[in-house]
Amino acid sequence: MRLVPNALAQRSAPWTQVQDAILSDAALRAAHQVVSSWDGYAPTPLHALPGLAAQAGIASLHIKDESGRFGIGSFKALGGAYAVAQVLAQHPSPADIVVTCATDGNHGRSVAWSAQRFGCRAVIFIHETVSQGRANAIASFGAEVRRVPGGYDDSVRIAADVAAREGWHVVSDTSWPGYTDVPRNVMQGYEIMAAEAFDALPAPPTHIFIQTGVGGVAAAVAGLAKRRWGDARPCIILADPTGAACWADSFFAGKPTVAQGTVDTLQAGLACGEVSELAWDILKDHGDFAITVPDHLVGPMMRQLAAPANGDPAIEAGESAVAGLVACLSADGAMRHAIGLGPASRVLTFATEGATDPALYRSIIAGDDLHA
Ligand SMILES: Cc1ncc(COP(=O)(O)O)c(C=O)c1O
Repeated sequence: MRLVPNALAQRSAPWTQVQDAILSDAALRAAHQVVSSWDGYAPTPLHALPGLAAQAGIASLHIKDESGRFGIGSFKALGGAYAVAQVLAQHPSPADIVVTCATDGNHGRSVAWSAQRFGCRAVIFIHETVSQGRANAIASFGAEVRRVPGGYDDSVRIAADVAAREGWHVVSDTSWPGYTDVPRNVMQGYEIMAAEAFDALPAPPTHIFIQTGVGGVAAAVAGLAKRRWGDARPCIILADPTGAACWADSFFAGKPTVAQGTVDTLQAGLACGEVSELAWDILKDHGDFAITVPDHLVGPMMRQLAAPANGDPAIEAGESAVAGLVACLSADGAMRHAIGLGPASRVLTFATEGATDPALYRSIIAGDDLHA
């Protein structure tokens, strides 16, 4: 594991106008009003894990459990679906609209689910290593699924190119120069998860560990933490898979940087080689550290959560859901010292998905750590 401090971030950094144009209390209220009106909306549970807190030598540990979100199994139901709703709000006849995106699995499922719900068409691009189970889940919502060569970042570009040719609406969870409106809505939707968690905590956290793909959800969590607690905000630690460490590499370089290596990881939802520009705008000031999380620690953590022997509640957490928890529990003495983690710490983390690929989940819980 590698700990990379972000030299640009400071607790006293102001919340800037640029940041407020991306995420704001007004935008969160608007997103909450829309999403909470949908059938099936309910805040997901926040669990206290006293057994794991004792194991980590900290005062408390809470985990937000997204496995039951809208029945599609991840927090991504809040983001892509809200962005689709925003696109359709500007178009009177949804049946004439095609929404499209690239996905590692969960974002595409959210877009496909909402397209079916709201009556438009969806075409979802997946890359070479997205599991067939995840492809089938997306198709089950009536979406057309297209598998394309390369990795996630290639599929993002292919989706955008095809959409430009066909006149489709790109609903991407990542942003790039000139494409920010939709991913901003996606991140505003994610803030609902952060707000639910913060509201349910018995005391403000001292540390938040949150896993990163393109960084959208981490930016949403960090942004709300800054707005809610100001300079007293918790230390924000991003948990990046070792095999796709674009946030660790970007913090190291002090600027957005493409991840080194093959961008291949068991943590499929986090397999992104490039940070989102909007997320960078927030996290450069309000994200303090990145810790890299190797795949071989993921299966053991999933199994411990699934069948705790310490009195903690059991939690169904998928391969991309546990990096934050692993970073908290596996940080060595030097890392703990650097991030100020100790007996007085109150940690918040997020189990961002459940068994979104049930066959894969079952095999990992049964002890098969695949290529980890
Ligand atoms: C389960 C899960 N957790 C975390 C993330 C990371 O989100 P982001 O790409 O916004 O950083 C993803 C992304 O797909 C995901 O599927």
